[in-house]
Amino acid sequence: MERGIDLVTTASVVLPGSTVGILGGGQLGRMLALAGRHMGYRFVVLDPTPDAPAAQVADRQIVAPFADREAARTLAAQADVITYEFEHLDANVVAELEARACVPQGSRLLRITQNRLMEKRALEASGIPVAPFREVASRADLERALDELGFPAVLKTATGGYDGKGQRVIRAREEAEPAYADLAGRGPLVLEAWVPFVKELSVVVARRPDGAMRPFPVAENVHASGILRTTIVPARVDEATARRATELACTAAERLNAVGLLAVEMFLTADGTLRVNELAPRPHNSGHFTMDACVTSQFEQHLRAICNLPLGDARLLTPVVMVNVLGAHLPRLLQRLPHLDGRVKVHLYGKAEARPMRKMGHVNIVADSVAEALAMARALDVWDVVDAGDVKPVSDA
Ligand SMILES: Nc1ncnc2c1ncn2[C@@H]1O[C@H](COP(=O)(O)OP(=O)(O)O)[C@@H](O)[C@H]1O
Ligand SMILES: [Mg+2]
Repeated sequence: MERGIDLVTTASVVLPGSTVGILGGGQLGRMLALAGRHMGYRFVVLDPTPDAPAAQVADRQIVAPFADREAARTLAAQADVITYEFEHLDANVVAELEARACVPQGSRLLRITQNRLMEKRALEASGIPVAPFREVASRADLERALDELGFPAVLKTATGGYDGKGQRVIRAREEAEPAYADLAGRGPLVLEAWVPFVKELSVVVARRPDGAMRPFPVAENVHASGILRTTIVPARVDEATARRATELACTAAERLNAVGLLAVEMFLTADGTLRVNELAPRPHNSGHFTMDACVTSQFEQHLRAICNLPLGDARLLTPVVMVNVLGAHLPRLLQRLPHLDGRVKVHLYGKAEARPMRKMGHVNIVADSVAEALAMARALDVWDVVDAGDVKPVSDA
């Protein structure tokens, strides 16, 4: 598609029958393609790993590295609209695609969310509170930042981190040097004050090119060792907090001009303050509950938004608890499978290798209350961590 008709294509509807190109072949791309198949779209996936989870359910896979510009051009030639399912792409490749194809999400927000420093600055500039942070380019910077922010603090790589990777908690002065030595050389670093949160929340919001927005219900998230373990919906917070969380997410989506899904992760502290932790301009693990508990799943909603269809109803139909199935959990879950309660909905990603901390799938447990769903999750005896009380404090992170 030529640059000249870009605006027209962006504003016009991408109808079913069209082909959606996905950069990335992981589980998010897989669930996106499965939702899109129901809607009548076709899919082509670009991923370096043959038979990647998304490729298993797509029409075609282009097996090539993400930085391969020729492969990106092939994707552009085969797809009517292009999206991405993870952030650790070369944003320049996405910018190039943007110039020659329909990429409704664009590359600007991708570039921002790829870099924690840029992300936090963009949030602050939008009037959205974040944890106190400092850029760290040297040992001296780190010492100064620790003097200013105090302990505990978290040193993070600005780019490339996910599932708690590229993070070191610094609880005392003597932990600074080993943390720095571990992470230095992995690009720019950021030190964040540890937020003594009482809960982690997230809101996934969908936004169309014309600015229409629809948030999903507020999710309560439990992380252990930096990895999401459980999502509880409705979140166990008061209505005013839920309203503010939703407003923050919508403000972020609007000010940052998101198109498609934006997931907004937040910390809630005892005084009721909400601070945004991270953004993801794509479907998000904390939105998987929507697949079995909402009128519209986050995956369908993302496609609706980027294809410029009307947004679906995002209403919650039932209390739900989502629990991630990591490699360490998979054998026991499979053992239980023949006897599972029908309210336990199992989603597996088709990954070949089950490393202990790798996300292999998730279950959505629907019940009359979140307390009942949590009790059902515990009774399965598959997971070490189900609710926040099971997580060891800071030292675990
Ligand atoms: N500044 C912080 N204060 C408290 N907890 C934090 C902080 N930073 C990270 N964490 C914990 O680690 C988890 C993962 O960190 P996050 O920055 O979201 O990285 P990732 O990109 O790996 O998801 C968070 O969800 C939270 O549980
Ligand atoms: Mg996170």
